[in-house]
Amino acid sequence: MNKDLQTFIANHFSVPGRALDLGAGDFHDVNALIELGWKAVGVDKTTGVDLNDLYEDPRMSFNLVYSNFVIHKLLHPEKLVETAYENLDTNGWFFLQTFHKSDTISSSRLDEETIAGRLDSIGFKNSTIEVLNIYDNDPGHGHWHRVLMASAQKVAKECYS
Ligand SMILES: C[S@@+](CC[C@H](N)C(=O)[O-])C[C@H]1O[C@@H](n2cnc3c(N)ncnc32)[C@H](O)[C@@H]1O
Repeated sequence: MNKDLQTFIANHFSVPGRALDLGAGDFHDVNALIELGWKAVGVDKTTGVDLNDLYEDPRMSFNLVYSNFVIHKLLHPEKLVETAYENLDTNGWFFLQTFHKSDTISSSRLDEETIAGRLDSIGFKNSTIEVLNIYDNDPGHGHWHRVLMASAQKVAKECYS
């Protein structure tokens, strides 16, 4: 399981909840969460969901929506942030990892300001954004990445109006 997601969950959830993975890939994080007692589901282009469009999951609402290494690929990245917001319950958390624009391997155009702006404009609060150096040790890789990691919360409107 993604170690940073695991740490985020340990810091923000005392009991397993309901999680949605946007761009789940081979579903390894979804399956790891299920093992931990979560009700977890994922969507991906490979399952017929294009995250360039707003997606509302018909199965349930969630207290965690996460998306790792997908948003930089989208023509309409703002739709993924909107999808996260719309599928979250009040007080639910969004966790995001993607490549920073300074990453030399990927072609991301995203940086702290663009992510902060998107989170803010959709209504997320309590956001934190970090840039990490992460070593990719997968077979045939063996290089460093510059990774943007963000989290934010959907809070009740009356808390900030
Ligand atoms: C680098 S993989 C990341 C997979 C997984 N999140 C992880 O961290 O291992 C990127 C994933 O994004 C998905 N993807 C790319 N464009 C997409 C789109 N427009 N809509 C939905 N999924 C997309 C790909 O199918 C792939 O599974």
